[in-house]
Amino acid sequence: MNRIQYTLGCTLLLMWSWGNVMAQLPSKDQFINDLLAKMTLEEKVGQMSLFTSDWDVTGPSLRPQYKEDIKAGKVGAVFNAYTAKYTRELQQIAVENTRLKIPLLFGYDVIHGHQTIFPISLAESCSWDLAEIENGARVAGEEAAAQGLHWTFAPMVDIARDPRWGRISEGAGEDTYLGSLIGAARVKGFQGESLKSPNTIAACAKHFAAYGAAQAGRDYHTVDMSIQTLYNTYLPPFKACVDAGVASFMTSFNELNGIPATANSFLLKDILRKDWKYNGMVVTDYTSINEMVAHGFSKDERQAGMQAATAGVDMDMQGAVYMNHLKSLVDKGNVPQAAIDQAVRNILALKYDLGLFEDPYRYSDEKREKMIVLSQANLEAARRMARKSIVLLKNKNNALPLRSNQKVALIGPFGNEKRSLIGSWSAAGDWTKSIPVLAAMQEKAPNNILYAKGCNINDDSLQYIESALQTARSADVVVLALGENWDMTGEAASRSSLGLPGVQQQLFEQIQALGKPVVVVLMNGRPLCIPELDQKADAILETWYLGTMAGPAITDVLYGDYNPSGRLTTTFPRSEGQIPVHYDMKNTGRPFDANNKYTSKYLDSPNEPLYPFGYGLSYTDFTYSKPFLNKKKMKRGEKLNLTLTITNAGKRAGEETVQLYLRDLVGSSTRPLKQLKAYQKVNLQPGESKTITFFIDESMLSFFNYDLQYGAETGEFDVMVGPNSSNVQSIRFELQD
Ligand code: GLC
Repeated sequence: MNRIQYTLGCTLLLMWSWGNVMAQLPSKDQFINDLLAKMTLEEKVGQMSLFTSDWDVTGPSLRPQYKEDIKAGKVGAVFNAYTAKYTRELQQIAVENTRLKIPLLFGYDVIHGHQTIFPISLAESCSWDLAEIENGARVAGEEAAAQGLHWTFAPMVDIARDPRWGRISEGAGEDTYLGSLIGAARVKGFQGESLKSPNTIAACAKHFAAYGAAQAGRDYHTVDMSIQTLYNTYLPPFKACVDAGVASFMTSFNELNGIPATANSFLLKDILRKDWKYNGMVVTDYTSINEMVAHGFSKDERQAGMQAATAGVDMDMQGAVYMNHLKSLVDKGNVPQAAIDQAVRNILALKYDLGLFEDPYRYSDEKREKMIVLSQANLEAARRMARKSIVLLKNKNNALPLRSNQKVALIGPFGNEKRSLIGSWSAAGDWTKSIPVLAAMQEKAPNNILYAKGCNINDDSLQYIESALQTARSADVVVLALGENWDMTGEAASRSSLGLPGVQQQLFEQIQALGKPVVVVLMNGRPLCIPELDQKADAILETWYLGTMAGPAITDVLYGDYNPSGRLTTTFPRSEGQIPVHYDMKNTGRPFDANNKYTSKYLDSPNEPLYPFGYGLSYTDFTYSKPFLNKKKMKRGEKLNLTLTITNAGKRAGEETVQLYLRDLVGSSTRPLKQLKAYQKVNLQPGESKTITFFIDESMLSFFNYDLQYGAETGEFDVMVGPNSSNVQSIRFELQD
């Protein structure tokens, strides 16, 4: 029996069994009401605690007695535990030892793949390919579900505009519109059509909210911003996840304007529950209730527990605050019983939706586990996603693509690197299974690949440089694999200086001085400040951390088997001094003017970044016709059509991402110079042209004004189209009442 027959068989069997069992289970509300009525306060509080297993600890504390806690009915969910066998073992403790036999929820950080690791989320976002991104989440969810997991703490939808912040690697970059589309795609990928299906898992929109705006890019730091910026820039991706049906939310570590997110009823009640009518489950981040004491918002953990529970937090991740204080807070009237009942209702509803009350062991199936994890199809999907995530930043004199008869010296600490390829938050990924660039290139061009490490990733040893120079001298072209180590991004990994770590810059300069063509392959989890590389390298490929199939995907692009199509979703600053620098900034009252001293500028740097949002090159050339608007005046409720023709003027087939930006020239609040509002991906053969049409409607012109009213304001707008945010053609039109 092959995998497809097996899956079909399982599905039919499950549908038949569901048919029978569903007939027995009452409706969700009835079931939950009946169960809630039987539960003691202790049992209710028990559901509101989430603890990590000791398999993979992702935060500062571990409660070793978690199994005893489960047996005592003090645990509603466990995270960082997986495999069909182990989840079955833990589930048995809960189901066979507790009075009401309520099944556990198993959660894990399945961020960019489970065992088959996909590119890090920031890399995937550079594909701008929503279907591929959704499929990546679907594959991750399927593998996670096959290993006993019900719930992932993903997608991370924090808009991030400060590359010093290590967690920029986990999101979808700087843009609100694209970040919203990608967040929704990931939710759909993880959750599929139904959470009852044994190959889907519940998603979790995190970190609510505005965690990416940590001051100075320092993780966990203060977040303080205007309410208008919160509404226009940081909240929409979360709302997009709500609209996509996300099953849960996670509160963030940061305070927002003085109130920690984990007890911020403005976020958790006014916005999430009242405005957005969200009825999913809300979990904290790792001990973030306890940390409100350090924030200076709670005098002790008891008060923190009261503040979190009354603000609407349903589940306490790892803090044991609810476990230790919630019953007495209710008994003493500090927390209303109704708040507890609502929290437990949200938790039980998720367990019901996952089908755990029908069969607590349905995800812990060792046979299915073997069929699905690391399948060939999944590896191929990971390679496809990895190719599409690569951004060609420079290609002087067509140094790329390489020819297989060229003698290539692969040099640098990432040439044969395996661990970094799967990046941070690599879940159950086994880095020993990742394929390094060296192996993939040797397979592609046997006998034509020389290799030397050149230096370590992040120390000051120069001992390997000489032998690297020797190796380079015998080659026609050098591929220099450089970057930052995987643990220099992700959580608690902010950097104040964004150059290449260690002595990699020296290695580059000495190799480059040999006068041979130098192709830089970058592996990193954030934008780096690399003006020297940009100046002196012949070609630069931004490959991020591409996952299990990184080596083959990079080789596919190096040798032209795939024409790079990635476009940056995060701006590359020239230096840290420019930060924050992003494409949708304001014009100011004194926009830069080279002929006027008193205008907004630096004395020692241009205002423009090194590489702008939306930027990326191809091995072919695309030309744009003049865009045409069907009319220059638009009444409310009407649409404008913008058409233009894209031509592949080069010799290779390729994919272009045509981007459409809008500017509101005069607003009741000042508006950004441009904002991405649509894009279309166009695949063209050499010489082929395609006319495309964008529709512009009022929703694309709308924003939250100073009084937080959402809508479009009449007046003039510029619509801009082009290959990236800095290279656009513009047409003016007017919105009229
Ligand atoms: C971490 C992260 C969060 C993750 C959680 C569980 O501290 O902030 O993103 O989901 O703990 O591992």
